[in-house]
Amino acid sequence: MVPAMAPRKIIIDTDPGQDDAVAILLALASREELDVLGITAVAGNVPLALTQRNARIVCELAGRPDMRVFAGADAPIHRALVTAEHVHGKTGLDGPPVPDPDMDLQAQNAVDFIIETLMEHPPGTVTLVPIGPLTNIALAFEKAPEIVPRVAEIVLMGGAYFEVGNITPAAEFNIYVDPEAAEIVFKSGVPLVVMPLDVTHKALTSRARVEAFRAMGTETGRMVAAWTDFFERFDMEKYGSEGAPLHDPCTIAYLLKPDLFSGRHINVAIETQSDLTRGMTVADWWRVTDRAPNAMFIGDLDAEGYFALLTERLARLP
Ligand code: BDR
Ligand code: CA
Repeated sequence: MVPAMAPRKIIIDTDPGQDDAVAILLALASREELDVLGITAVAGNVPLALTQRNARIVCELAGRPDMRVFAGADAPIHRALVTAEHVHGKTGLDGPPVPDPDMDLQAQNAVDFIIETLMEHPPGTVTLVPIGPLTNIALAFEKAPEIVPRVAEIVLMGGAYFEVGNITPAAEFNIYVDPEAAEIVFKSGVPLVVMPLDVTHKALTSRARVEAFRAMGTETGRMVAAWTDFFERFDMEKYGSEGAPLHDPCTIAYLLKPDLFSGRHINVAIETQSDLTRGMTVADWWRVTDRAPNAMFIGDLDAEGYFALLTERLARLP
């Protein structure tokens, strides 16, 4: 008999955010494939006091009060925090009422947890999944450069090329908030898989897709439907689209079913200087420079397969 593959060890670095919440739920629902070692919160969509709280709310919703949640950076490395309450609401998880979390926040700082985890696991066995600004990851790389070659892979949501920007005309939110951190990560040499707006804007909810969540008849299904309903209104008004992009779960879906996605292995550099285009991911999609490829930059997905995976997995949760 072929022995079952051990689940892949991951750390999710996040700023929940309704779409972050769905990403965390998808990971926690996929225990055969993914071993979530911890969840590290960062300031982004809303301030850190809310993102770490929201991460605990989501773990409890998934029936995982044993999951460890760590708080990291409360601001970008060199800049004032820019938040996105206009998309996610005042709490970051606006929409349905949510209970206060009972589980405790871990005392250890998220940056130290990332460093310690990478040092205590064999090199090449821990994957980082950042779905917010890259501050915690960059701070860990700066504080303990010896961890960088130990990271198996980074699968992140951030950036845009053909879709350009969502927070400025040129920049996507996660990269814009902390471009210096993004630059450290993109120059780190760690193999990167990047889910830019180019792909996440194809991962659109629809009435039928949201109703499939609701029809699960579980608390998770009801919450995910209500969160996506809330989150939808902003993008539908802005883009005139049928639904809203479920950005962050693309990272976890990629780990579960990479064949749902396609992209190009190219060079991606981060603009940190220009006032006009700060945070832009300058992606050499057409390979017009001799800059060495540093990222698998995803451009397309099988949206039907993506939502089928989400529905199948989320239905396993309470
Ligand atoms: C990204 O920004 C946040 O608002 C979302 O959670 C996602 O990570 C999309 O630009
Ligand atoms: Ca996010």
